Amino acid sequence: MRAREGEAIEAVILAAGKGTRMKSGRPKVLHELCGRPMIHYVLQAAAAATARITVVVGHGGERIERHLRETGFAGRIVVQRRLLGTADAVRCAVGGRSVTRGGVLILNGDAPLLTPTTVRRLVREHARRSAAVTFLTAEVEDPSGYGRVLRDGRGRVTAIREERDLSAVQKRIREVNVGVYCVQARALASVLEEIPRHPRKKEYFLTDAVGLLAERGASVETIAVAEEEGLGVNSRADLARLGAILRRRTIARLMDRGVTVEDPGSAHIAPDARIGLDTVIRPFTVIEPDVRIGRGCVIGPFARLRPGTRIADGVQVGNFAEVSRSRVGTGTLMKHFGFLGDARVGAGANIGAGAVTANYDGRAKHRTVIREGAFIGSDSILVAPVTVGRRGTTAAGSVVTGGTVVPEGGLVMGVPARLRTGGGIRKPVAGRRRGGGSSISHKEGSRS
Ligand code: UD1
Ligand code: CA
Repeated sequence: MRAREGEAIEAVILAAGKGTRMKSGRPKVLHELCGRPMIHYVLQAAAAATARITVVVGHGGERIERHLRETGFAGRIVVQRRLLGTADAVRCAVGGRSVTRGGVLILNGDAPLLTPTTVRRLVREHARRSAAVTFLTAEVEDPSGYGRVLRDGRGRVTAIREERDLSAVQKRIREVNVGVYCVQARALASVLEEIPRHPRKKEYFLTDAVGLLAERGASVETIAVAEEEGLGVNSRADLARLGAILRRRTIARLMDRGVTVEDPGSAHIAPDARIGLDTVIRPFTVIEPDVRIGRGCVIGPFARLRPGTRIADGVQVGNFAEVSRSRVGTGTLMKHFGFLGDARVGAGANIGAGAVTANYDGRAKHRTVIREGAFIGSDSILVAPVTVGRRGTTAAGSVVTGGTVVPEGGLVMGVPARLRTGGGIRKPVAGRRRGGGSSISHKEGSRS
């Protein structure tokens, strides 16, 4: 998106900080919120404004860089060797390259609740008002720890002052700096080198850029946002609190779009979940990132859908069932405990209680294919790779060993499971919702 015709935006994400209060061996921005490292959300927000993104890393830089590259980040990563403050971090990103055109969007890597919508609004308003700098503020209940916004008698911003430098009266100001700025590149360049080192903290504060611009009569604008959007993560407690907010947001959006979430307090649903109309998410269900669910499904209670799972329409996944990197076809039932991993299940199949795809042999993962209308008996273990043909059956308790192909309509049973031909075992009708009407029970083996 462009701020204005011909005016390009580039984004800088500050993520070099140490995150001391996390008490962790892991860099702060890699701590996860709803299944993804928090920097992921900041990148998403930045991406709403521009594809040109620079991430400034320092503490744990190699790990962050590895993670970003592995997850497909194609922007720049620069290293801030000494953590000399937020202004120094910005200098690392833009200094030395004469960025004098367009605008620079600056975001904190540890504030994951900022929405793409707000970023777009910031960039748009900044351009519309032709401001030198526009930054986000929030009116908060407890402003301690935040930089406060100082204004003159006419309401114009004069400076942002950090907690440690505030007078007793200023401490009562509840309008705080969220830490997200859109700055004209030229204006930024004009003050960046002039920011003094903070006498006690020995750091260069980006917030001082705002004060310097205001002092010089440049236009400084603000946009007020909900407190929530400005929340940063400084501790594990924050991580849990922000995670809960993100889940609430996700669930509210899903409910708005026609999904029933019976118990928003206990359902954990990743923000990127795509769930169809009239699907019901029952209590204590966990839906991890990269999961899609069709319409009219019932998921849970106590179900866990893991990344790479695709559930078609009318599927039921019940209690203590786990599905990972698998596709489940229309109308298929898996109503009780069990595990599907690296599986492709056709429509109208029944996965009995306790059925397990043993997809991992200690070295590699293997695939299981369960075709349309198959019936996987209770406690069946399918040692992948296994294929169960259309309307094939595995009897209860069978262990289907690796490489087995159960033919269409065939029945296997036993340990290890062997193919039965003929022999009067009736397949249950229950669960055969597709597969053609009411009288589909047939003699085993008659088709093979
Ligand atoms: C900063 C703001 C404060 C604002 C608050 C909002 C400054 C001086 N203060 O304070 O006004 O209310 O954010 O959350 O900017 N970072 C680097 N390199 C550094 C130092 C920090 O990359 O040398 C990164 C951190 O990783 C973090 C971000 O910059 O993502 C903000 O730094 P942090 O130390 O958390 O600033 P705050 O004290 O929270
Ligand atoms: Ca912070």
